[in-house]
Amino acid sequence: MCGIVGYTGSRQAYPIVIDGLKKLEYRGYDSSGVALQQGSSLKVYKKAGKVAALEEHIGIASTLGTTGIGHTRWATHGEPSDRNAHPHISKSGNLAMIHNGIIENYAQIKNELIKEGYQFQSDTDSEVLLNFIEDIKTNNACSLEEAIRIALKRVTGAYVILIIDAEQPDTIIAARKGSPLVIGIGNKEHFLGSDASPMLAYTKEVVYINDYELAIVRPDELILKNLGNEVITPFVQKLDLELAAIEKGGYDHFMLKEIFEQPSTIADSLRGRLVLHESRIILSGVDAIQEKLRNARRVIIVACGTSWHAGLLAEYVIEELCRINVEVEYASEFRYRNPIIDGDDVIIAISQSGETADTLVALERAKEQGATIFGIVNVVGSSIARISHAGCYTHAGPEIGVASTKAYTAQLAVLMLLALKVAQERGTISNERFQALCHELNDIPGKVQWILDHEVDNIKAIAYKYKDAHDALYLGRGYNFPTALEGALKLKEISYIHAEGYPAAEMKHGPIALVDEQLPVVFIASQDAYHEKIISNMQEIKARKGKVIAVVSEGDEITPTIADDIMTVPLADEVIAPLLTVVPLQLLSYYIGVYRGLDVDKPRNLAKSVTVE
Ligand code: G6P
Repeated sequence: MCGIVGYTGSRQAYPIVIDGLKKLEYRGYDSSGVALQQGSSLKVYKKAGKVAALEEHIGIASTLGTTGIGHTRWATHGEPSDRNAHPHISKSGNLAMIHNGIIENYAQIKNELIKEGYQFQSDTDSEVLLNFIEDIKTNNACSLEEAIRIALKRVTGAYVILIIDAEQPDTIIAARKGSPLVIGIGNKEHFLGSDASPMLAYTKEVVYINDYELAIVRPDELILKNLGNEVITPFVQKLDLELAAIEKGGYDHFMLKEIFEQPSTIADSLRGRLVLHESRIILSGVDAIQEKLRNARRVIIVACGTSWHAGLLAEYVIEELCRINVEVEYASEFRYRNPIIDGDDVIIAISQSGETADTLVALERAKEQGATIFGIVNVVGSSIARISHAGCYTHAGPEIGVASTKAYTAQLAVLMLLALKVAQERGTISNERFQALCHELNDIPGKVQWILDHEVDNIKAIAYKYKDAHDALYLGRGYNFPTALEGALKLKEISYIHAEGYPAAEMKHGPIALVDEQLPVVFIASQDAYHEKIISNMQEIKARKGKVIAVVSEGDEITPTIADDIMTVPLADEVIAPLLTVVPLQLLSYYIGVYRGLDVDKPRNLAKSVTVE
């Protein structure tokens, strides 16, 4: 996590850097800071809190300078405070550095430096790395660039670093391993960022920096090298992204905007892929590994957070439609538990950001063992997209709200396309069922729009009624179980209400002990094969005086007679319905968060792109 920004050119750097930090605040927001080159000295400002607190702290102090770097932090080493905020300054005062990542062997290096007489101003691993670099530079009498190379060969962990040097005007030196870095190319100016959003207003030409690369960036040149000091030709790509996509567009929060965008983002995920009149699904990424998938004995899905919930649903869909054994793994567990993988395995990685450290490393390990990696990723050009053998983008557009909404439904849409395509190729689905599900999928954007047009006021009222709850249970069976998990996750992320998702039948093995007249229990009870069974589960809650909130399909006459509150979605096939049932749950969490007066776009302690393990 952490967001990093840099600028060098002929404009004033400060406004560009501050604006860039605001765009990257989704990556971390517990403190922030900037460093500017002013002649042969460096000016550094930093402050605990959000970027607005930094601006207020700087006030009318001098922010002149045409080269600068900025950082917004998600604390790993050391509490969020002014002192631990980045940029850090080296002992001599000549170097300022920002860092995203974790230096794992920092303690050992720190001890070595302490023995040499270094005193540290912060508790961070980043300040250790900076002084390590300066120490190498002094002891070896070498250039800063050379010192960075030597230092980076010694450190373990992940990093993107940006360094400015009082002795090298108009120059930013950057390096990456394991965390993202994009450089935007302008007219005699360069922009640096954790993603492309800080540079979108200025340029569409970007270079994605790879691991173990070092960039020397000046207004009129970008020199790219590897850690062996060999020059690399930068691969310039054109961004297909508009500025409006990363602005709120009149909504109170990004999260609300992103929930409301879902009819169009789901349509974007399906566009050009679902060819109804030919009864065909076009996914060139799947074609690239067609043989592998057609013959696969098992598929392993690796993901984290909300993306893991999309993976769990994919397990249900792929097993049913394709008759392939699917295992769904938390990337953080998978990477460390020496899993049995071979060349026949297909690993599907699901990630909004394409940068989640655990997912990325899990894939690297699986790739080393010969597995085929298929990435389902939202951010174009991200690390996971690049290490995958093949894949599909989800085309949800930039998701800024920390809690995932539109990226999740886009993941589901793509996973359903994938399952249908593979089922058709393997011959495990009848023509009629294939066509019926394709039509159902095609109708989803309109049905999501129906929910947004008809249900918002009702959901707001329900949110108001339950806004002071301390706990909540989310229950579902079959295809509705992953949605229960996702609904519970959304509520805890946004409202800080403790919420648990459970398979509805499993409730009697423990969670039922929590039920009393205070406890809201949210049932995902859309029409499916288990509908009668879930109604029995509702009765069990009612019998114990729990409050039942149910997501039901239009036309359901029974559930409303049992439940205290109802959120309605249009009728859909049970395989496809998870694209609908999650929407009221997103809205419920959003409004509860708003009624509790919380910052729903930036919930405490969370970050959107988790680039540390
Ligand atoms: C963070 C985000 C979640 C996301 C998870 C996985 O925790 O806050 O919204 O689901 O990371 O991220 P990914 O980018 O890999 O989908």
